[in-house]
Amino acid sequence: MLTDPSPRVTDGRYFRSVLGNYPTGVAAITAVGQGGEPVGMIVGTFSSVSLDPPLVSFTPTKDSASFKALRESKSFCVNILGEQQEEICRALAVKGADDKFTSVRWRPADSGSPIIENSVAWIDCDFESITEAGDHYIVLGAVRDLAISKDSPDLPLLFFQGGYGRFSPHSRVMPAATDALEQIRFVDMARDHMESLAAELGMECSAVAPVENFLVRLASAGVPPNGGSPVRVGIRLPFEAPMGALLVAWADPATQDRWLDRGVPRENVKERDRHRDALERVRAKGWTITLFSEGFRSIDKRLENLAADGPTRQPDPHLSQLAASLNGPDAYERDEILSGETYQVRNVSAPVFDSEGNVVLYLTLFGFPVSTRGDRVLDIVARLVETASRVSDAISWAGLRKSIASAERRA
Ligand SMILES: Cc1cc2nc3c(=O)[nH]c(=O)nc-3n(C[C@H](O)[C@H](O)[C@H](O)COP(=O)(O)O)c2cc1C
Repeated sequence: MLTDPSPRVTDGRYFRSVLGNYPTGVAAITAVGQGGEPVGMIVGTFSSVSLDPPLVSFTPTKDSASFKALRESKSFCVNILGEQQEEICRALAVKGADDKFTSVRWRPADSGSPIIENSVAWIDCDFESITEAGDHYIVLGAVRDLAISKDSPDLPLLFFQGGYGRFSPHSRVMPAATDALEQIRFVDMARDHMESLAAELGMECSAVAPVENFLVRLASAGVPPNGGSPVRVGIRLPFEAPMGALLVAWADPATQDRWLDRGVPRENVKERDRHRDALERVRAKGWTITLFSEGFRSIDKRLENLAADGPTRQPDPHLSQLAASLNGPDAYERDEILSGETYQVRNVSAPVFDSEGNVVLYLTLFGFPVSTRGDRVLDIVARLVETASRVSDAISWAGLRKSIASAERRA
C-alpha cells in the first residue's frame, strides 16, 4: 500500500526547488506544423533512452500549446543548444507565441523538422509513443538520424536552479575503473593544480597514467582556446615506444626494455638504441614536447573517431600501428627549442613523481596557437614543470601522512 506523501511533496514550489538541484542541458524540440510553419518548444527533460532500438525521450507538460502543435507532426527534431544560444532558447520558450522562429535560422532534416543553425548536435526522430504521466506526457522518439554540428564549436548550454549556465573549465575525471583506482587517487591530488594552470594559461591540461599496459587519460582541466573540443577522458592509448616515454625515462633498464619490446622489435637494435639515448635526454631535460606532424595528425584524427565511442577497455590496434610508425625519438624529444624560432606545438608534458621517485603520471598541455615562438613555449614549459612538481610534493606528503598513520596504528 502506498503511504501518504510528506507535506513537502505536495508543496509545488518546494518540489521544484529540490528537483532544480539536478542540472540539465537545454534542447529545442522542433517540427513542421499543419500549415507548413516551424513549431517548437524548449525542454530540459530530453534524455537518451535506448541504443537498441535507438530511442530518446522528453516530457512536455499536458497544457503546453507548443506540444499540441508538435504532436500533429509524425516526426520531430531535438536540437541540443549551445552556450551562445540563450537568445534562441528564450524565443522558443515564450508561452503561446506563434512567431517563435522569426529570428531563428534553420534548415530541414530528412524528416522536414527544423535543424537549428549552430546547435551543438541534432537528433531527428519519429514519434514512437506518447504516454500520460501525471500532468505531463512521456514522449518516446525513434531516432532516424543524428549528428554533431560541424559548424558549431560551442559547448552546450546548461540549466540549473532556474538559471542558464555554462560548462566551466573545471576538471573532468573519468568514472572509476576498478583497475585504475590508485591512479585516480593520484589524479585527485592533481586536479586543483591542473585547473589553476589551465585557467592561467587559457589552455587544456590533462593527466595521463599507466594502467597495466595502457596509457589512460584519466582527467582533463580547462577547454582548449579557439573553440576546439576538450580531450576525451577515459581513452586507453598504447603504452609502447614511442608513446609514454616520460613514464619510463626514470625507470630501471628492465622496465625500459619491456616498453621498447612493446613498440620496437628486438632485432631493430639501432632504433632501440636511439630510443634509449632519447630517454636519457628526456631525463636530463625533465619534460617532453611533440610538434604537429603528419603522423600525429593521423593519430589525432583516430582519437577523435574513438572519442565518439566513449571510454574504452582495450586500446585500439589501429592507434598502435599509427603510434609505431611515428618517427622514433622525434615523437617526444626535440634537441632544443630556440627562443627566436617559431614552432607548431601539439603538446608539452612533464612528469609527476611519488615519494620513491617513480613517475606515476604525467601532465600534458594542449591548445597552443598555430605557431608559437620558442621563448613563449619555454615559458609555458616552465609553468607546467613547476605545476607537476607541486603535484609530486602533494603526492609525497600524502604518502608520508599515510605511513605515519599506519605506524601510529601499529604502535
Ligand atoms: C530551460 C527550460 C526547460 C524547459 N523544460 C520543459 C520541459 O521539460 N517540459 C515542458 O513541458 N516545458 C518545459 N519548458 C517550458 C517550455 O519550453 C515553454 O515555456 C513552453 O512550451 C511554452 O509554452 P506553450 O507550449 O504553452 O506555448 C522549459 C523551459 C525552459 C526555459
